[in-house]
Amino acid sequence: MVIGLLGLGTVGGGVYNLVNGRTDMSIKYVCCLEKPEGLTAILTSNFDDIVNDPEVDTVVEVMGGLHPAREFAIKAMSAGKNYVTANKLLIAECFQELTALAAEKGVALRCTAAAGGGIPWLTAIERCKRADTITSISGIMNGTTNYIMDTMHRQSVSFSDVLGQAQQLGYAEADPSADIDGKDIQNKCVISANVAFDVLLQKKDVPVFGIRNVTVQDIADFKEHGFCCKLIATAVRRSGKIAAFVEPTLVSGGRLEAAVPSNFNLITFNAENAGRQSYFGQGAGRYPTAYNVVEDLIDVAGGVRSFYTSDFTAAEVDNEMVAHQYYVRFAGTDPWLEELITEKWDCGVITKPVSVAQMHAWAKTAEEQDSQMFLAAIK
Ligand code: HSE
Repeated sequence: MVIGLLGLGTVGGGVYNLVNGRTDMSIKYVCCLEKPEGLTAILTSNFDDIVNDPEVDTVVEVMGGLHPAREFAIKAMSAGKNYVTANKLLIAECFQELTALAAEKGVALRCTAAAGGGIPWLTAIERCKRADTITSISGIMNGTTNYIMDTMHRQSVSFSDVLGQAQQLGYAEADPSADIDGKDIQNKCVISANVAFDVLLQKKDVPVFGIRNVTVQDIADFKEHGFCCKLIATAVRRSGKIAAFVEPTLVSGGRLEAAVPSNFNLITFNAENAGRQSYFGQGAGRYPTAYNVVEDLIDVAGGVRSFYTSDFTAAEVDNEMVAHQYYVRFAGTDPWLEELITEKWDCGVITKPVSVAQMHAWAKTAEEQDSQMFLAAIK
């Protein structure tokens, strides 16, 4: 296998080092802006050098971002090259276009590192579906936010201080608002749901509430009531419809999710026969992510010429079909919320069960009154 590698940052540097330790694949080109010390591959800033070289059979993209990643993916697969990427934004935004192109050209499109970092999550879904039907997926799919929530539960430190630590440790996205506002986990939720359910869910179908506004006082309230707060993505299939959403979630202390430390991820599917299967591991970081890129490359070298699934249908999205109680901290006044209150905690109130669609729609307008409001599902 001869590879053109796009990007030599945190993950790209890891891929470069791991591939260089192998004999079954080699990196012929590296496309990046600066020439690092000791690079043995050809350095180019022109992607066409890679596309036009017939010796290159596989392109690996670990630059991130939507452009020019989308254009590179289209060019590479159109030229008959396999495409392996960790770019979740690219796959979530261009899911239909890229999976269709890969199928048309008969090339591999693999992105295992895009959802779950170092966890073999998409491949586990792929395998499960050979013998079973997945009914739901859910979990902690963002290392930065888990690191923040875990640290804030252990020590009384402010949100912004912990975010700074996560950035220094290399977990956070270049723009960490993608992590804390839930956009990163939303991408992973879309990819996972589409692979699990053979649908074409889009990001607009998945309402998101992030953790930006959580306070030390909120966490003290959660702990006092025996809960731990995690940012969780969920997608459920019921009667042919899909509900999918991302929200801070209060889980009781005995749940597996409550025990997930540091930047780890814990992702679960439920299937009709297999029941619950949960995958725990490193969801971010240089070598865990690079490891999964290399696993994809090994699959492609072994003959895989596909995406994880095919025959997608449009998703019928219905976020009314899932309802639960919520913790809401809101400084404004709102009759709809008042009607729902069943209990008052120190900082926030607890609501009766309310649908995900209604709560997220309300939160959008409520944020205009109180930009610091916070909500969390209770499960
Ligand atoms: N910023 C992401 C995270 C990186 O924290 O999980 C891995 O996708």
